[in-house]
Amino acid sequence: MRHITTLFDLTPADVMDIFETAEQLKEKHAAGDFVRSLENRVLTLIFDKPSLRTRLSFEAAIGQLGGSASFFTAKDAGLYGRESLPDVARVVSGYSDAIVLRTFSHKTVEDFCQWSTCPVINGLSDDFHPCQALTDLFTIREVFGALTDEKLVFIGDGNNVAASLAILCGMLELPFTLCCPAGYEIPDATVASLLDRYPESKLTQTNDLDAALADADIIYTDVWASMGQEDEADERKAAFAPYQVNAQLLAKAKPSCRFMHDLPARRGLEVTDEVMDGPHSIVFQQAENRMHLAKGLLAWLLKGEH
Ligand code: CP
Ligand code: NVA
Repeated sequence: MRHITTLFDLTPADVMDIFETAEQLKEKHAAGDFVRSLENRVLTLIFDKPSLRTRLSFEAAIGQLGGSASFFTAKDAGLYGRESLPDVARVVSGYSDAIVLRTFSHKTVEDFCQWSTCPVINGLSDDFHPCQALTDLFTIREVFGALTDEKLVFIGDGNNVAASLAILCGMLELPFTLCCPAGYEIPDATVASLLDRYPESKLTQTNDLDAALADADIIYTDVWASMGQEDEADERKAAFAPYQVNAQLLAKAKPSCRFMHDLPARRGLEVTDEVMDGPHSIVFQQAENRMHLAKGLLAWLLKGEH
């Protein structure tokens, strides 16, 4: 049984297997060949933060593959004191073939895994968002035809999404640059774990927009204040203002560059409408791919070999 709490739970070979499974399922579905390999399987989602993409992509994924989904808020599941976490984890996993958790503290995901008798997938914690990063590299592979040496530049906060992208790029030996104001880098502990496990990682962190954007193939951004950081919104808005992804900033990258965002976007803050809706943007292909990646991930995880 495999849990996916961070991308360190996967090997580079696992990642390529998941991508290939997702690609095949996407192609088959488009051709009207509806694979129902997860009939009778049950996916339970327990979320402590709002979600559009993660919730619906997993619900659609298990549904398309013939299984069913149940969704609970963390409060309704009893995680706000009605029952102990170990009791909830043991009960829910007894009814489920896999569980997707969305939490504040990453430790909640780790604690849940200690007690769960079925695989647990992190559907976003304060520190990591592995399913998003898997989708993003799957999308880059699809758009560019392969994963070679595309220069991915994340302009913004060294948050859960940036950390997961840095890990995945490190695992796949792809260059990853985070460009942010001082003090908003990826946490040292995550960088240390990455360099320990993948010493060949091509990770750069800089405050210099011109240097970061030179030759960039992909510009990526995310919200400046993540869920749970609402109190810091004003302070972050001031710090990140020079890092807004707008037409002037995009002009510093390669003319062929693509724009990505995990969504939801705060239009007019980290990104302008002209970029979100412009010719470089692949954000809605990226968003749709959350479902195709979720199908690949569930099919891979539940095929019995893991
Ligand atoms: N990108 C993403 O995880 O979106 P949701 O918060 O809507 O799930
Ligand atoms: N960094 C964002 C991602 C949302 C999908 C957050 O945690 O709110």
